Amino acid sequence: MNMPKDSNFIKANNARYGWHPMSHPGDMQKNPPRIVTGAEGVEVIDIDGHRLLDAVGGLWNVSLGHSAPTVKKAMTDQIERMAFYNTFRGTTNDRVIELSIALREFFAPEGMERAFFTSGGSDSVETALRLARQYQRIIGQPERTRFYSLKYGYHGTHFGGASVNGMNKFRRQYEPMLPGCHHLPAPYTYRNEFGTDDPAVIAQGIAARFEADIAFYGADTIAAFIMEPVLGSGGVLVPHETLMPLMRDICTRNGILMIADEVICGFGRTGAESGSRLWGVQPDMMTTAKALTNGFFPMGATLVNGKVAEAFETASGPDGTLSHGYTNSGHPVGAAAALATLEAVQSQGVVANAAARGKELIAALERLQHKHEIIGDVRGKGLMAALELVSDRARKTPLGKGPVQTLFDAAYDAGVMLRTSGNNIIISPCLVVERADIDRIEVGLDKGLTAAANAA
Ligand SMILES: Cc1ncc(COP(=O)(O)O)c(C=O)c1O
Repeated sequence: MNMPKDSNFIKANNARYGWHPMSHPGDMQKNPPRIVTGAEGVEVIDIDGHRLLDAVGGLWNVSLGHSAPTVKKAMTDQIERMAFYNTFRGTTNDRVIELSIALREFFAPEGMERAFFTSGGSDSVETALRLARQYQRIIGQPERTRFYSLKYGYHGTHFGGASVNGMNKFRRQYEPMLPGCHHLPAPYTYRNEFGTDDPAVIAQGIAARFEADIAFYGADTIAAFIMEPVLGSGGVLVPHETLMPLMRDICTRNGILMIADEVICGFGRTGAESGSRLWGVQPDMMTTAKALTNGFFPMGATLVNGKVAEAFETASGPDGTLSHGYTNSGHPVGAAAALATLEAVQSQGVVANAAARGKELIAALERLQHKHEIIGDVRGKGLMAALELVSDRARKTPLGKGPVQTLFDAAYDAGVMLRTSGNNIIISPCLVVERADIDRIEVGLDKGLTAAANAA
């Protein structure tokens, strides 16, 4: 049997032969990552038996916590019954049929009518971009090929997703990107080009920029606009409540499809069932993944509304054919996990808990900001939040890599797992956390911030 190796062997080989996402392989060999070997409830356990409150929630995705017994049981039952069969033309499976109905019901307020299953968030984005172009061809607008997105938006790492990605660091080494991808300013109150920190004014500025570009290029050259309802990986940028409705209105008036990238926001993270619902918007397409399966199976879904569905379903032959898909589209184990996750999200009050705990989390972060000079900005919605760290508050100078690492290490030693991204600390615990868990995050952060300030 393939038994786990002893911990010395594992530690000796850490990052030696496997490369890690979003990191420098040489750097990882010099500073190997923490090895997590267990997970239970809202905690993780490292290779030395150290227990930590998981303030990362897996990676925004483990909403029901790491135990989630009904999800695990649904997966193991499905593995026993049928571990895989494909859903390419001619065959399907029972669980994916059930899941397509469950998602239609869950996202009825957003008007989502059909689901196309993928293997994760990047696939979901790629699917939405491709289907957006195909939709425009079907309705007789083949010149509509451009994509618009927001700076600081993150849409995964495939070439299409990276092309609409709004962060230079995810693009630069892989250029040239897809032609015809344009970026609008971000709803970033702390740093922006509009000379204001008023989010409503910034929203107006972004909308005006979009309108001006549409007039310049011609609406009939633009296929779709994609945005995260709350920008996650770019540093948890929470737009003003008017931004997404304004962009929806511009898209509608100009025949541009609106894609809501709900890979992080979907299934409760913002304190609403989706980020679109949070802002009262019905997009044309939604991209989902992550918490769809509680993070237990790599699966995503691209959802489309009735207008898009009808165009495809009534198009003649090849025009409407989806020449697109993945071996794992509609994987039965992923579908079983998703069905159990959706059931638990709805029956366990998870979304309301995220909203309530989110308010407590922001209050805790604001208390820390009063105490620690190095916190330049506090941002968040529901259970997605960020601290932007600075070495000089007046100048907003980003805090250096060394002190940020010190913060991470000190919080780790105090029993809180955090995630750092540049000079941001990203906080996204499981959606089932309790008040006492928020207190633990506050205590861990407090210790980390003190250590970082001393190291700065
Ligand atoms: C908004 C958004 N879109 C797409 C992706 C890509 O998802 P994946 O990493 O599953 O490919 C992510 C990942 O964090 C994301 O946050």
